[in-house]
Amino acid sequence: MPGARITGWGMAVPEKVVTNDDLSARLDTSDEWITERTGIRQRHVGGTTSQLGIDAGRRALDQAGVDAADVDVLVLATTTPDATVPGTSATVQQGLGVAGGAFDLNAACSGFVYALVVAHGLVSLGARRILVVGSETLSRITDWDDRSMAVLVGDGAGAVVLEATDGPGQLLGWDLGADGSLRHLLKCDLGGYLFMNGKEIFRHAVRAVVDSSTAALARAGVTAADVELFVPHQANARIITAASQRLGIPAERCVVTIDRYGNTSSASIPLALCDAIDTGRLRPGALVLLSGFGGGMTWASAVLRWGGWRDREATRRRS
Ligand code: ACO
Repeated sequence: MPGARITGWGMAVPEKVVTNDDLSARLDTSDEWITERTGIRQRHVGGTTSQLGIDAGRRALDQAGVDAADVDVLVLATTTPDATVPGTSATVQQGLGVAGGAFDLNAACSGFVYALVVAHGLVSLGARRILVVGSETLSRITDWDDRSMAVLVGDGAGAVVLEATDGPGQLLGWDLGADGSLRHLLKCDLGGYLFMNGKEIFRHAVRAVVDSSTAALARAGVTAADVELFVPHQANARIITAASQRLGIPAERCVVTIDRYGNTSSASIPLALCDAIDTGRLRPGALVLLSGFGGGMTWASAVLRWGGWRDREATRRRS
């Protein structure tokens, strides 16, 4: 079966930055509480899920040198679509000029890793180029008078281009999971606001990340000691610390961007991945672990062997 490699990546965040002090000026909270309890210092707020997805998607396509007209499928992971119908992927598809199919995928904060695994499945069915986008505007479903949620969320998007390759693919192992009996812990009814039982989510989240990461690593035939870069969902810096400690992954191998972006749900892992690439933290050949969890509850992990896009031209000539 053909494998796939990430050949391009891009991100987008709204211009407006809301700091902890901005929130403290109108809510009964403080920079100290938010920083200590969550690791968040600021978040970007504004825009639409489709426009952020278009901006991130365009950067990823440019980076890969792939024409949107040559993309077979666009998968948009989001939990904050611009409308119930049509899917937000329709707007992103038109905005980018993607010629192939397009669909939304909602697995809450695990959405991007779910989409990445699904995209690999499509490659094994014959798709050659897939654009995977995680885009969110959680600010639009947040009650800004509720300090328990308002301090946590941010808006943004991240995207990757996945191209089929003749050689072995980049995805070595994966794990997708869900437990619908826990769906009351984190929810947003139609037309309502986000609600979360923070303490319970925290408890389940650490276990979900550890168990799902362990399952994906085992499927890949590697261990946590082999992981060079851990890119977890950015919901709370304390969850990242607790999960990485239990996995035995040292802090310097973890990507933490929550201080700048807050919790951006499906966008958080691709945003963190882009940050790691752009700051030179990902060398070709490095073993990368992505792991997310979120409402549902859902969880998802993927183990990638980074790099290999230099084979791209050879692969393209044959495709
Ligand atoms: N500012 C100041 N005080 C606050 C705030 C705030 N923003 N929010 C809550 N508090 C208070 C509480 O009222 C409570 O006060 P009390 O002791 O007088 O009752 C105290 O701080 C402690 O509250 P806890 O809820 O126990 O705080 P905790 O340490 O659990 O942190 C948090 C809360 C940050 C929400 C944490 O539980 C968490 O991160 N949970 C997981 C979140 C998560 O992973 N969500 C999943 C994805 S979210 C999504 O998809 C959008």
